[in-house]
Amino acid sequence: MTGPNPNDKYPLPGNTNLQFIKNMITRPNIIAGDYSYYDASCGESFEDQVLYHYEIIGTKLIMGKFCSIAPEARFMMDGGNHRMDGSTFPFNIFGNGWEAFTPSIEELPIKGDTIIGNDVWIGRRATIMPGVRIGDGAIIAAEAVVVKDVEPYTIVGGNPAKEIRKRFSPEITQALLEIKWWDHDIEIINQYMGAIVSGNVNMLRKMKQKS
Ligand SMILES: CC(C)(COP(=O)(O)OP(=O)(O)OC[C@H]1O[C@@H](n2cnc3c(N)ncnc32)[C@H](O)[C@@H]1OP(=O)(O)O)[C@@H](O)C(=O)NCCC(=O)NCCS
Repeated sequence: MTGPNPNDKYPLPGNTNLQFIKNMITRPNIIAGDYSYYDASCGESFEDQVLYHYEIIGTKLIMGKFCSIAPEARFMMDGGNHRMDGSTFPFNIFGNGWEAFTPSIEELPIKGDTIIGNDVWIGRRATIMPGVRIGDGAIIAAEAVVVKDVEPYTIVGGNPAKEIRKRFSPEITQALLEIKWWDHDIEIINQYMGAIVSGNVNMLRKMKQKS
């Protein structure tokens, strides 16, 4: 068992919808780890789903490994926020002299990098707002609008997204966060895949001892 090649764009031969994000991105302000995939079955590329992401703003979308991103999930980035300390009308973009009122970066409401952990599942049509941090193992329900940080191994849903439940007990969550199965060599991950998919922490602890 080898699993797919993490350096392929399309891990499944003949299927161009299933895409390893890391190998599809062209923008320097998006970083994604091995095996994290986007299901592009609605036609848009992953980058099309990362909105208002202008390099000049300087914030990044950073995603870990083994994340599952469902079709039409969206990441709103900081470039979408208008100045809010006075009129929100963006006079500057219309030129003809109004460009003199182009806001400085400091005058814009910048929230910072959006950070998605490892083994995060983002459901269909979920929206992640700028500067949000989503912890390892979290699940974002379909259609959620995530406006605040999400703790590891927590399920959130709704608009604004609220906690639905914790996935595991605090002890199991702690163990999973220590083991970090996603950081092991793929040969070890292959060997322990049964324990990974069933959350068998006792088995996974052996994984930690081995590598
Ligand atoms: C969140 C989800 C994972 C279900 O998790 P779960 O723990 O089994 O949740 P349950 O179905 O038991 O529902 C628990 C509560 O969450 C609520 N809930 C479930 N899905 C929700 C959603 N998408 N948005 C808002 N609330 C949701 C339920 O109404 C229920 O609320 P209640 O406790 O007030 O009655 C699932 O509903 C979901 O959204 N999956 C994403 C599917 C998807 O987008 N797939 C794309 C292909 S990868």
